[in-house]
Amino acid sequence: MAVREILIHPDEVLQQVAKPVLFPLSAEVEQLITDMADTMYDAPGVGLAAPQVGALLRLAITDTVWRDKEVRHDGAKAGEQRELKVWINPEITWASNEMEEWEEGCLSVPDTYGDVSRPAAIRLRWFDQQGVVHEQEFRGFQAVALQHEFDHLDGKLFIDYLSPLKRKMITKKMKKLYKS
Ligand code: NI
Repeated sequence: MAVREILIHPDEVLQQVAKPVLFPLSAEVEQLITDMADTMYDAPGVGLAAPQVGALLRLAITDTVWRDKEVRHDGAKAGEQRELKVWINPEITWASNEMEEWEEGCLSVPDTYGDVSRPAAIRLRWFDQQGVVHEQEFRGFQAVALQHEFDHLDGKLFIDYLSPLKRKMITKKMKKLYKS
């Protein structure tokens, strides 16, 4: 178990554009993915992007099953079941005009939440760890979580969608609490 340190806003690494991952994956990237999973479950969170642990690579992980009661229909308690997804070099190839608002939070902006409006459905192309390309449509909570994570790969945070005043207040709070 290797939990890495999660960078906190306004760390400038979080504002940079990440580089594509090369195949075959290096041992370092394989280790990064394993550590990111440990870090996400430990936090706990439903998603984590590589830049959040200081690696500027187009790579993110999610598990929208293990602790989200709303997306569970099998009656199992949150935390009993895990479904780790690894998204490498993801690209949103289509987004719906229909928008949906969800309350979002982020491990890099602790204890802070805000309503963000995003396309309700997306079509995604991504690579798995073996370098195989996949394409699939997502909607609902998973679509929101994916768009949030992939924003991290372009140096964007959910607070960038909030009003400038609210964003400024959050940044001030983070600086005060985390002295970054
Ligand atoms: Ni985030």
